[in-house]
Amino acid sequence: MDIALSYFVIKCFMKKSIKTFLKTAAKDYLSRSVNPPVVRASTILFKTMQELRKHQKDIAKGKDVEHWDYGRQGTQTTVQLQKLLRGLEEAYQVFLTPTGFSAVALAIMSICRPGDEIVISDGVYRPTQKLTDDLLKEFNVKAVWYNPNKFEDLKNKITKKTKLIYVENPGSNTFEMQDLGKVVSLAKSKNILTAIDNTWATAYFFKPLKLGFDIAITSATKYYSGHSDVMGGTVAVNKKAYKKVWWYNHVSGYRLSPDDAYLIIRGLRTLDVRMDKHQASTKKVINFLKTQKKVSKILYPYKTSSKEFKLWKKYYSGASGLVSLIIKSNNKNSVYKFVNTLELFGIGYSWGGFESLAVYTDPVELGNRRYFKLEKNEHLVRLHIGLEEPKDLISDLRSSLKFVK
Ligand SMILES: Cc1ncc(COP(=O)(O)O)c(C=O)c1O
Repeated sequence: MDIALSYFVIKCFMKKSIKTFLKTAAKDYLSRSVNPPVVRASTILFKTMQELRKHQKDIAKGKDVEHWDYGRQGTQTTVQLQKLLRGLEEAYQVFLTPTGFSAVALAIMSICRPGDEIVISDGVYRPTQKLTDDLLKEFNVKAVWYNPNKFEDLKNKITKKTKLIYVENPGSNTFEMQDLGKVVSLAKSKNILTAIDNTWATAYFFKPLKLGFDIAITSATKYYSGHSDVMGGTVAVNKKAYKKVWWYNHVSGYRLSPDDAYLIIRGLRTLDVRMDKHQASTKKVINFLKTQKKVSKILYPYKTSSKEFKLWKKYYSGASGLVSLIIKSNNKNSVYKFVNTLELFGIGYSWGGFESLAVYTDPVELGNRRYFKLEKNEHLVRLHIGLEEPKDLISDLRSSLKFVK
């Protein structure tokens, strides 16, 4: 089947609710299993040379094949995951990568070439900053940073050399929200491609390609897999971006293992249930935190009068479980103690799993931010609200906040 035709078939199937789609797709009808097989393969066998060559020609023509000619391109397991994600993201195609960060790299490296400029929102994930500032410089690609709180600033930073506008929404750790519709319209009027890191919301709460973004990146390590036991990334593209990303993916050799693809499929079955629960529990935890004097600010789109809430409401159907707190204190060790004494929040990186986490975020982790500053007595603690009972999480937070001096 041609890739455009199979895209059409998936779109027809999508008339059902996404919740149903996540349960009914990716079956193995041949062995009558409700889940796809894990096909581990480097070599893929053909009956004759003629069959092998015909298959390669079909792939070159862009046909949507059920298997590839070599394991690096994927196996039935990764093909099934791609189909599931194409439905979820409403994407022309979805590329799979071994980590979320390699998905960021695949998207950016597919588009930028020597002499180009990438206009990028200040507040992206720290390694994305390093990739664009440090690595792209080596290839004569200039990273131009804009203030995510000022659309005019983005407008002013566009030049004839701009090839890509790169957004992470909301901003990493600091959760500033942008007017995404305006970003897309601006880019379209100047014929510039757009990419967004959508890991925080996932395509369950916001579908960037539907709004007009060309590329949507998600770290599947987080909510897509949801169980903190696998790493992976996804790059969803529309027809316009497809060829460029396909080519770079082809020559760079990124590959997600079939075992990891299987775990991500398993996680996606319950994405809706988990995301709804993360959202509901986070709301309860925030309702508690906003009554706490020691918490001076909550970075999350919850305050109905705020710009963040209005922009979130305009584009998103829900919010996830990642939130930051600003705690004012002249005693950093007491804020460390708040984090250290939490019993139900593990101290560690990543998020999007079933469990709650807390991490004190240093300016180093925030990166070289041009438009966000913490005062000397302000401390940022990032929480991931997991699937535990919110009442227990609130009581844990209440006990540990007592240590903040
Ligand atoms: C917003 C965002 N994008 C991308 C990544 C990278 O994902 P991974 O850890 O799977 O490489 C992360 C990781 O924390 C992230 O927070």
